[in-house]
Amino acid sequence: MKVFIGVAWPYANGAVHLGHIMGAYLPADIFARFQRMLGNEVLMVSGSDEHGTPITLTAEKEGKNPQEIVDRYHRINSEVMEKLGISFDLFYRTSSPNHEEVVKQFFLRLWENGYLYEDTMLLPYCPSCGRYLPDRYVVGTCPYCGYENAHGDQCDNCGRTLDPKDLINPRCAICGTPTEFRESKHIFFALSKLEDELKEWVATKEHWKDNVKRFTMQFLNSGLKDRAITRDIEWGVEVPLEGYENKRIYVWFDAVIGYLSASMEWARRNGKSWEEFWKSEEAKHYYFLGKDNIPFHTIIWPAMLMAHGDLHLPDEVVANEYLQFSGQKFSKSKRIGVWMPELLENFHPDMIRFYGAMNMPENRDFNFTWDNFISTINETLVDKFANLMYRILSFAYRHFGKVPPRGKVDNLDREAIKMIMQTRKRMEEHLNRVEFRLALKEWLNLVRFGNTYFVRKAPWDLCKKDREACGTAINISLQIAQALAVLGAPFIPFTSDRIWYFLGNDDSVHQHGWNDSIKNLPVGRKLREPEHLFKKIERGEEKYDKWSQIDIRVARVKKVEDHPDADKLYVVTLDLGDEERTVVAGLKKYYAPQELEGREVLVIYNLEPATLRGVKSQGMLLAGDDGKVVALLKPEREVPPGTRVQASGVESNPERMLKFKKFQKMKIEVVDIQGTAVKGSSEYHVDFPIPENWVGKEGVVFHDRKPLILHVGDVLIVPDKPVTPGGRVR
Ligand code: MF3
Ligand code: ZN
Repeated sequence: MKVFIGVAWPYANGAVHLGHIMGAYLPADIFARFQRMLGNEVLMVSGSDEHGTPITLTAEKEGKNPQEIVDRYHRINSEVMEKLGISFDLFYRTSSPNHEEVVKQFFLRLWENGYLYEDTMLLPYCPSCGRYLPDRYVVGTCPYCGYENAHGDQCDNCGRTLDPKDLINPRCAICGTPTEFRESKHIFFALSKLEDELKEWVATKEHWKDNVKRFTMQFLNSGLKDRAITRDIEWGVEVPLEGYENKRIYVWFDAVIGYLSASMEWARRNGKSWEEFWKSEEAKHYYFLGKDNIPFHTIIWPAMLMAHGDLHLPDEVVANEYLQFSGQKFSKSKRIGVWMPELLENFHPDMIRFYGAMNMPENRDFNFTWDNFISTINETLVDKFANLMYRILSFAYRHFGKVPPRGKVDNLDREAIKMIMQTRKRMEEHLNRVEFRLALKEWLNLVRFGNTYFVRKAPWDLCKKDREACGTAINISLQIAQALAVLGAPFIPFTSDRIWYFLGNDDSVHQHGWNDSIKNLPVGRKLREPEHLFKKIERGEEKYDKWSQIDIRVARVKKVEDHPDADKLYVVTLDLGDEERTVVAGLKKYYAPQELEGREVLVIYNLEPATLRGVKSQGMLLAGDDGKVVALLKPEREVPPGTRVQASGVESNPERMLKFKKFQKMKIEVVDIQGTAVKGSSEYHVDFPIPENWVGKEGVVFHDRKPLILHVGDVLIVPDKPVTPGGRVR
């Protein structure tokens, strides 16, 4: 099958940011790689969108000519695509002469077919500059929100789409002179003629995703009006008609034709046929874009193709939602966003791809934070996946040097083989439905299984006892590694190829098909000495926002008395080494005074003092509470009173008192320690070297940027009786 993949063309007026990548280029590339692995012939194109006011405005701001701007950003963005492994067959540009020629031919064909006509319209004109003004070049007050610097096409304050005629007090963006409206001659595209045909066609697209259908229907239902496709501007494709020397073709009309011109250019350069993709019913056409581009791909471009005749219409239009950056909308002017050239300088492309695929804004906006970026990569890609690969590959290499034979298999081995088969099948189903996050979830499930398998087989022990059984475990572990490399190839192509190499292959994993994920490794094939796949991302500084605000100390209970005025409260005197403190504690229901006296407890040392029913409390005792059991926290072994509690090795030394309200927002919970994973209200990975003797015990986790385990040196902080994991600490 032939699969055409078109990805929205980025404007060449800036570097692409992570939102562009996660929204369009990465999903398109994963899909393209997957389709190639299925044995389909793929043509994936995009390029720089180099015309129109987005470019000329940037050029004016930077005091450059438009050509310099597009040359620079075409180079920068081409490099981004290359470095990130976005496997375009061609990343073209709309300023290339061949593209311009294709656009003119397309235009003339629509003219001949009767879909273009000439008419006049009233357009903003600046008498002092002596020119018609493109929409973007008119500024004025927004009629909706009153913002005084709204542009003629859109208000950047309230986001509404505008027409220059809507603006109150419109003026020229360049010289500030009030604008006039004058008649100007333009070419119109008879969209209205195609209304019925378009509606019928859209009705066959039931399988489109909800957001795509919604935007498309909105556009259709507001009635299809004919649209001017020429502009009073000097930067763009010339209009191939007489009398239009001072006008240019509208940038959108020009850009979407890029899908076709790039296909032709690819065919020309490679001696291939573009017609096989564009003139055959057999081919399938997929488009990937951000949601603001939907109507251009589901209505305007299809309408242009219909008016042209003889060319394949879009089959799938995949549009993602937006990426937000720490809760804020991307903004070029405010520098809110994460730009790809910088990101690629600092991180391995597969880290970016993995993070991108895991958090793709498929159904709703996704909020990017650095913290989440770093922890996703460190905790999932590195700890779970890369470490497993290294453990398997290095053990196999050191103990066998080649693929060992598979001997007698047990139930766990059979389960492993089943998992591999099932992962291949499920990922394929998801990928065919362009559900990237779900596909990756299946892959991660196999990673999780691989870790369990390896730990349960414990080859380091097994090899001493039964070398054949150990060989079987390693054989199957290597099969898991192979499956993860092949099935992961669309997502993390660079890393997959390295694993493939360590597995002893001489070619590239990208020359192999999807089903090679389940083929048996040839017994006896020599393995290569593996290297670590990634280094963890180091955090700038190990600083924790929340943990650094609280000071928790160990204290010994000296004396317990009843509160004079409250029958649920005790007044507790604490020994903190070189000082004594009194706290009020609501423990009467749970502990008798003699159960408390002499024992160690934990106290919030810097809590703002409060007066509880007339008694001043200088701190608060910490206890786990699961709704049934209330259990005071304590160090597992006694430590000197006054000792500070640490969180995953970090001591905090706050400068201020902690407000009770702030403390209430902190999340501290009782967990089951299972190794590097702990289980509380959910399962967390803890990247702190956990001593063996903590495993299997109940501990306490303080949630900051990541879950932190409470301890004092090698002494774990524990509840003094069992509490259901997930129980809150208060
Ligand atoms: N340059 C446009 C944007 O960034 C997208 C153009 S998509 C194309 O919004 F198909 F028209 F090229
Ligand atoms: Zn002016």
